[in-house]
Amino acid sequence: MNDSFDDLKNGVVLAELGGHGDGPYCAKHGTGAALVVLGTYIVDPGDAVPYDPAFVFKPGRDSYADYLREHIAAARASGAAVGVSVISVNLDDTIDFLLAAEEAGVDYVSLCLHSVMEMFVSVGLSSALLRRENWGRLREHLSACLEALEGPFIPKMGIGWAPDDVEAVAEMVDVGVSIIHANVGDAASDSGADVIRRLKRYGMFLIAGGGIKTAQDARRVLEVGADAVAIGTAAMDDPGLCGHIQAALRDMPPCKA
Ligand SMILES: Cc1cc2nc3c(=O)[nH]c(=O)nc-3n(C[C@H](O)[C@H](O)[C@H](O)COP(=O)(O)O)c2cc1C
Repeated sequence: MNDSFDDLKNGVVLAELGGHGDGPYCAKHGTGAALVVLGTYIVDPGDAVPYDPAFVFKPGRDSYADYLREHIAAARASGAAVGVSVISVNLDDTIDFLLAAEEAGVDYVSLCLHSVMEMFVSVGLSSALLRRENWGRLREHLSACLEALEGPFIPKMGIGWAPDDVEAVAEMVDVGVSIIHANVGDAASDSGADVIRRLKRYGMFLIAGGGIKTAQDARRVLEVGADAVAIGTAAMDDPGLCGHIQAALRDMPPCKA
């Protein structure tokens, strides 16, 4: 496995946006980025999942294998590496979906630890895994993903929804996670810089995002220690933004960090 993530260093990542981030969306809004992330998809046997139905699959390859092939191929038109994000209440379903994505040729797979949906947090999953009392389960889930998957695996987390969220990253790194994506809130602000510095103490490759709108914002986030930047909302409004910021970062002098 490529653990140095050279393809992502100082790169722009089109962040996962459930309800929007399918293949054609990534192709259009991620052109010129380093990585585009499809999803987050939910795998669930229920018929009343409170989420965009186009992003919900029943468990089993029959329901998602063709979709993954088609949308990963479509996202490749961005010229970026392609990732897929998933979440499920059943760990086996999560792993099978990500394995199917790998078989369909995806470059990165991601587990969403960012959701605050009741169906996940009420059973101690997704963002609730970042709570100290659930760290044993966090380790179990990440270890199982790392063991089963072939390629690079990116846990995606949000900062601010669990008291010890930054410290939870020590648990992730301890079980073998080497890259994370963190939504740190306002990434280009002083408080964002503080969170990025605290996260970087754990040594993994860090994709940091939250509120990035300009090349200056992105540059600041890289300067305080992030390895790559993620952009969601601003890229939704401006499909050319990821490419413009990526080009601007290439023209800037190399970062110290
Ligand atoms: C409409 C919308 C949908 C989102 N869906 C997801 C999702 O499915 N999975 C996820 O991990 N994050 C999701 N996010 C969070 C974004 O990936 C990103 O981390 C966050 O919005 C901060 O970046 P931004 O300020 O550039 O948007 C979503 C955000 C928005 C605005």
